[in-house]
Amino acid sequence: MQRTLIALVVALIVLPFAAAHGANAPIMANNGMVVSQEEKASRIGADILANGGTAVDAAVATAFALAVTHPTAGNIGGGGFLLFRPNSGDPLAYDFRETAPAAARADMWLNEGTYDFERHHFSHLAVGVPGTVAGLHAAWQAHGRLPWKDLVAPAITLARDGFVVTHELARSLRAVLPRMSKYPASIAQFTRKGTPLEPGDVLRQPDLAETLTRIAAEGPAGFYTGRTADLMVAEMKAHQGIITHADLSAYAAKVRTPLRGTYRGLNIITMPPPSSGGVALIAMLNVLEGYPLNELGFGTTATLHRMAESMRRAFADRARYLGDPDFNPDMPVGELTSKPYATQQRASIDLARASVSDPATFTWPKESKETTHLSVVDKERNAVALTYTLEYGYGSGIVVPGAGFLLNNEMGDFNASPGLTSSEGLIGTDPNLTAPGKRMLSSMTPTILERDGQLFMVTGSPGGRTIINTVLQTVLNVVDHGMNAQTAVDAGRIHHQWLPDAIAYERHGFSLDSLNGLRALGHTLREIPYQGVAEVIIVNPETSVLEAGVDRRVPDGAAVGN
Ligand code: GLY
Repeated sequence: MQRTLIALVVALIVLPFAAAHGANAPIMANNGMVVSQEEKASRIGADILANGGTAVDAAVATAFALAVTHPTAGNIGGGGFLLFRPNSGDPLAYDFRETAPAAARADMWLNEGTYDFERHHFSHLAVGVPGTVAGLHAAWQAHGRLPWKDLVAPAITLARDGFVVTHELARSLRAVLPRMSKYPASIAQFTRKGTPLEPGDVLRQPDLAETLTRIAAEGPAGFYTGRTADLMVAEMKAHQGIITHADLSAYAAKVRTPLRGTYRGLNIITMPPPSSGGVALIAMLNVLEGYPLNELGFGTTATLHRMAESMRRAFADRARYLGDPDFNPDMPVGELTSKPYATQQRASIDLARASVSDPATFTWPKESKETTHLSVVDKERNAVALTYTLEYGYGSGIVVPGAGFLLNNEMGDFNASPGLTSSEGLIGTDPNLTAPGKRMLSSMTPTILERDGQLFMVTGSPGGRTIINTVLQTVLNVVDHGMNAQTAVDAGRIHHQWLPDAIAYERHGFSLDSLNGLRALGHTLREIPYQGVAEVIIVNPETSVLEAGVDRRVPDGAAVGN
């Protein structure tokens, strides 16, 4: 009895406090904030902000640090997108997606007429010309304040002196060992003479430190020319790879105009093609704007059904229309992201019945969930959303001997072959077939929201095609369901991608009633352990305080503010 009374008193004192801060309180800061998937990298970015760096300076330093401390996706041998919203002036999208080498061909994934998955995903042919160093440098040149070498220096120290391996890094390195076993330089870098590293061991990457030192001193020339390029090309030549010196020196990051949309009065700024993410995100938000999601409630059958149907339609259009804009000048991006198109799409949704995805003959190419995202806001409220990737975890698994960095296997994001028909169905819609110099279609969706013309939210996630739906749900959770940044990140997620015709839902994310309700509407459901790793920053419109949500679905991430 006495215990019950004490518990009641404690509850009365504690609960209102907890409620005032939200069940899952965000990390708060006044001046600047960096959220990434690895704590040391977030700290490095936050230090750059504290030393007067801009959001772009901090993003660049964090990205270089992740290439050392989060080698599953942080990289200099891959590519990605950096979306920048200055506190005044127009936002810009830096596209540093990998490109297909000049010798690439649409049918290069066929082996004597048969699709060869290994070649497409795990050979030296699967490596695209890396874009990260060029992209980070281009963004820094335009929007950085601190010296370039100061942004690379912390990564050099981490690579040279080493850092303590976490449980998560040890787990993921152990998992990738079979794939790396063919490559002596990879085994030398990521094991202790073939024995897996344990949590608490120190991981030193001296060759990577040397490459980063060349990049710090020479900028992109330290990567795309000279010793680093020689080492990369030698590795290609030794294993029937096709990237040449000419491919490397021809690589250039592109500055694109971000896609814009609106959602319930907020401005959406997001990534244009060659990402499919922004087009699909705006298309889904336009459809969902026609439904009172707040009244229908978070995680209810009614809300989840409307979300799944908007996802189904956006992913069907993704497959049909989207690819590298420089090779597909007639993509109907304007139409797909228009409000009238959303009205048409909404009219095709039966609120009492699941639609059926058609044609049943299409299968998506395999895509990895291993990418990484970081969000940054600085004191002046400049913002960066940066998502970059090696495609699979540790990319191709190939460390360039003597250069110490992993090569991507991003060519796997191109469709398999023109008109190829397998027993499962057609693989290979035209806009995303391989071609020399072309950028493979991506799902990466770095996104920034404005409210009343001011910076409001920065968001993004890894997760292959699920990225787009994860980003969508962080937006809906904040805008429709009034969640703070941390609760919006923590809330359960679903994914529908047109085909297979099923809703994937996070275990423990939704009530049995809601899931059974979806089944009763005719949806097929598939349980998944988790989806995405979103990193979110919100600028509180009332207090101007930065509030961050870090995704605890995987360990090691951190929001660091100052
Ligand atoms: N490789 C993952 C993506 O580009 O979406």
